Amino acid sequence: MSRVLVTGGAGFIGSHVVEALSRAGRPVTILDDFSTGRRENLRDLEAVGAEFDLVEGSIADAAAVERAMRDVTGVVHLAALPSVARSVERPLDTHHACATGTITVLHAAALQKARVVYAGSSSAYGNQQAKFKQEDLREDPLSPYSASKLAGELYCRAFARVYDLRVVVTRFFNVFGPRQPADSPYSGVVAAFCRALLRGEAPRVDGDGLQSRDFTYVEDVVDGVLRCLDGETRGCVTVNLAYGQATTVMALYEQLTAHARELLGRDDLPAPKHAPPRAGDVRHSLADTARARETFGFEPRVGFADGLKRTFEWYRTGSGRSAQ
Ligand SMILES: NC(=O)c1ccc[n+]([C@@H]2O[C@H](COP(=O)([O-])OP(=O)(O)OC[C@H]3O[C@@H](n4cnc5c(N)ncnc54)[C@H](O)[C@@H]3O)[C@@H](O)[C@H]2O)c1
Repeated sequence: MSRVLVTGGAGFIGSHVVEALSRAGRPVTILDDFSTGRRENLRDLEAVGAEFDLVEGSIADAAAVERAMRDVTGVVHLAALPSVARSVERPLDTHHACATGTITVLHAAALQKARVVYAGSSSAYGNQQAKFKQEDLREDPLSPYSASKLAGELYCRAFARVYDLRVVVTRFFNVFGPRQPADSPYSGVVAAFCRALLRGEAPRVDGDGLQSRDFTYVEDVVDGVLRCLDGETRGCVTVNLAYGQATTVMALYEQLTAHARELLGRDDLPAPKHAPPRAGDVRHSLADTARARETFGFEPRVGFADGLKRTFEWYRTGSGRSAQ
């Protein structure tokens, strides 16, 4: 059966992609340098019977990428240094992983004639006026992270033209779920809020908390990624993978607090603590999801509310190691 290379397979989203592919009986190779990924994610995968080959190395190292590409017919390219805040502090590292790493992976995939799914980012849209972010809007990167992820997208388009590479650029919005690190200054807001509430600490809200996001549960994103991998599109297609549902950060706090009250039986949960807004953050981020539905039959199965409950439960029951 056709082998799939998952770059960044030891990371949050990558480990779920590996699990889903393995469950479907597909051979998987992981390429990861563990810069933000975790070995315990791979141990979790082994515990649920997932099988994979591991190549430890960087996506910016052509020799490591060539090794990982052996016998591969499809690539899910997720490896990157995510986080807007980290990219403001370390723009060159971000560029190296996201842009140089991506061209290295695309070049090897083109030689191998493998189909590629690239993890793009909704940050490409920046602060545009349009309420729903549609894939054909002009890009407007606000941070080094966003610019380097967009550079990766541009390489996808160029490689589709000159090497006839088949690529799908999937733009993720705010993905959340089990295995998302909760203990780093760069943690996603859902993970950080779960951790704070479980520790009885005040969650930190950047700015007024009225910024909104299209929070998407990881299992639904993975389902979309696999549809794109198995699709038959040619050239380079760009597609949003999200719910098309906006939630403000304050509304997220309210919903998680309600779960926490119910599950922990506590009424004394702390109010959030506001911090200054973060540089490079967009104000509103909401996906137009028509193309994902029409081109790849993408229909989310879990949804925001259930995904949030499952995620809080994962951190609460101790499976969420990084919440402790
Ligand atoms: N989580 C989100 O909300 C979100 C939103 C938009 C886009 N994305 C994109 O999705 C992808 C996965 O994100 P995630 O949240 O799972 O992050 P993550 O940090 O958990 O995963 C990234 C993985 O890539 C690996 N990696 C980083 N640099 C590498 C390098 N040079 N060589 C090899 N491996 C390397 C890390 O070790 C890690 O395992 C990224 O491309 C990110 O830009 C994520």
